[in-house]
Amino acid sequence: MPETGAMTATVPSEGATLAPQTSLDAGGLPPASGAPRRGSYWITTFGCQMNKADSERMAGILEAMGYIAGSDEHSADLVLYNTCTIRDNAEQKVYSYLGRQAQRKRDNPHLTLVVAGCVAQQEGEALLRRVPELDLVMGPQHANRLEALLSQVESGQQVVATGEHHILEDITTARRDSTVCAWVNVIYGCNERCTYCVVPAVRGREQSRLPAAIRLEMEGLAAQGIREITLLGQNIDAYGRDLPGITPEGRRAHTLTDLLQHVHDIKGLERIRFATSHPRYFTERLIDACADLPKVCEHFHIPFQSGDDDVLRAMARGYTVDRYRRIIERIRRRMPEASISADVIVAFPGETDAQYRRTLDLIEEIGFDLVNTAAYSPRPNTPAATWPDQLEEAVKVARLQELNVLVERIARQRSARYLDRIEAVLVEAVNPKDGSQLMGRTRTNRLTFFPAQRADGSVITPGELVAVRIEQVRAFSLSGSLA
Ligand code: SAH
Ligand code: SF4
Ligand code: F3S
Repeated sequence: MPETGAMTATVPSEGATLAPQTSLDAGGLPPASGAPRRGSYWITTFGCQMNKADSERMAGILEAMGYIAGSDEHSADLVLYNTCTIRDNAEQKVYSYLGRQAQRKRDNPHLTLVVAGCVAQQEGEALLRRVPELDLVMGPQHANRLEALLSQVESGQQVVATGEHHILEDITTARRDSTVCAWVNVIYGCNERCTYCVVPAVRGREQSRLPAAIRLEMEGLAAQGIREITLLGQNIDAYGRDLPGITPEGRRAHTLTDLLQHVHDIKGLERIRFATSHPRYFTERLIDACADLPKVCEHFHIPFQSGDDDVLRAMARGYTVDRYRRIIERIRRRMPEASISADVIVAFPGETDAQYRRTLDLIEEIGFDLVNTAAYSPRPNTPAATWPDQLEEAVKVARLQELNVLVERIARQRSARYLDRIEAVLVEAVNPKDGSQLMGRTRTNRLTFFPAQRADGSVITPGELVAVRIEQVRAFSLSGSLA
């Protein structure tokens, strides 16, 4: 596909810090692909599922280039941090990690240091000034170009790739962490302008992938044994609005609902999820399709951000609390067992105590299965960061603490409904804290633990669908025995 206005700035190298790149291991056989053998790589991923999906693709690219997965961050020949800047603490974490690697690079000039993701996009060349040891700074739109960018690095350049970029379809196979579940991007970027949010600035304009490309990727995954796929977009309800076409009924030809119908019959695929939903664009047609399509799981992640209409207006979210309520009512009318999760921000500029209490009330009223909570953090180049009515740190901390206690109490109440029920659990992996147990999730996305062996001694393997009788319930997980 053509690049639209791609811009890759190359910064002249600064001599000593830019010695020859990636070390070539002595000895050993080249990888089966025939690529030259390179050193080991290490990727640390911060942030959301988009970043995790990008990291898996970048790992796939590195392995196709001949890199092998390293065993730790402090000995790898190439270290890549895929970064997040959604809140200030996420960004600061990256700098502390980078400090340690910069130190290592001074002793070992062969180390290749890469910063990818949202901090890279936000900071660009400024990151090189701050950490001159870096070899490559690359924004999220450039993830699929990692090989080309690294070859520039190998020729002795320090590279910054942060230009607006038409995201290329990736022909490399991602290296997926799970053999059972996978993510598939359906729309990149975000065209919303929520006044607190840095995502549109770092992820760029919306770019929907074509349904045929999405289906092809999903078929490939199902053929490899993947049983559950989560379709990803920052605002997944926007899917298709940048693609051409109108139906005979006058609707846009490509919507999330159409996409779900288009991919639903893929053989071998057991479950389909999607995230993140936006209340402004969430349609009844989508709810009905979810209810009618058996593979689409009864779990909805619909951030509401605030329980107060004036705060929602200041956030430029484009819906009211009442609209949010109606969406949930409709979901529950069609799918009474559905679980609902959300994101919320407290201590937004100017939020009064009464407004904050409306957020608490809404959480209680809806009965969320899970809520990701955050105190407002001012972000560069966002309107809300410049407003004068910022709240004090102490208010942020107090509100967040009280909120978290409530969220846990409500989640515990929601978990109680599973007690003594038999749930279909898709087995994902061994419980990392107890090797005699496996873990998986219910259709409603509750993490569930259960014994790894059946009564007859046979061992269950990841990818199987098992019936688990729920015997213990906790706020965010369940345990039981095989039914
Ligand atoms: N696209 C999703 C959210 C992506 S960011 C949506 O529209 O809901 C994930 C979450 O981080 C957001 O839902 C929000 O709750 C939180 N968040 C984003 N910017 C923030 C900020 N400046 N301060 C605190 N939390 C923030
Ligand atoms: Fe950020 Fe709003 Fe876009 Fe979500 S919809 S990514 S909160 S701008
Ligand atoms: Fe963070 Fe970027 Fe995701 S800022 S939340 S990694 S889109």
